[in-house]
Amino acid sequence: MSITVRSIIAGAAASALTLAACGGEKPAPAGDSAGAASSVASAATAQPGQGEKIYAQRCQSCHQLNGAGAPGVYPPLAGSEFVVDANPAVPASIVIHGLQGPITVKGEPFNSLMPAYGIGITMTDEEVAAVVTYIRTSWGNTASAVTAADVASAREATKSHSGAMTAEALAPLRSK
Ligand code: HEC
Repeated sequence: MSITVRSIIAGAAASALTLAACGGEKPAPAGDSAGAASSVASAATAQPGQGEKIYAQRCQSCHQLNGAGAPGVYPPLAGSEFVVDANPAVPASIVIHGLQGPITVKGEPFNSLMPAYGIGITMTDEEVAAVVTYIRTSWGNTASAVTAADVASAREATKSHSGAMTAEALAPLRSK
């Protein structure tokens, strides 16, 4: 398993780094503030940037930064019918179990093996949800976001499946 940290996501992220700028000049208007009960993290959705980070760590070495993959070797995620399927269990189950054997993506045949990420210690439902949401909403893909609950039901729906998913095993999950 070669880990090639090829590119660390440089700028882009612009994460919410809220710096309380010099406390000098703002005489806080009385009454305002206080009530806003600190930061209630809405736990249901992934944190911004989480999916992109996981993608860089776990997927990019094969599927590439721009989601285009590599012709004949690694299929594209950009514009892939598997990624944007109306049923999020399709991409989620691929990440959970991996994928092997012949498949056709955007009209191009592939016949290889992708390792599993969701079994054992590898990725939690939240992490799978974050990265699947990322690939469904990047590079021009505009499919719906995926929650940890969606991933849990994808696990449930495919729990009797052993080994990597195949085109055949995915067929009943696919929407078209
Ligand atoms: C070691 C290389 C490798 C890594 C890392 C990898 N994949 Fe894949 N992936 C593949 C290959 C190869 C296939 C095609 C398998 C086949 O031919 O049956 C594939 C297929 C897919 C597919 C279905 C086909 C398509 O193009 O839409 C999806 C979705 C996918 N991968 C998502 C991911 C995500 C998300 C990650 C990171 C969590 C990831 N992959 C990590 C190699 C990889």
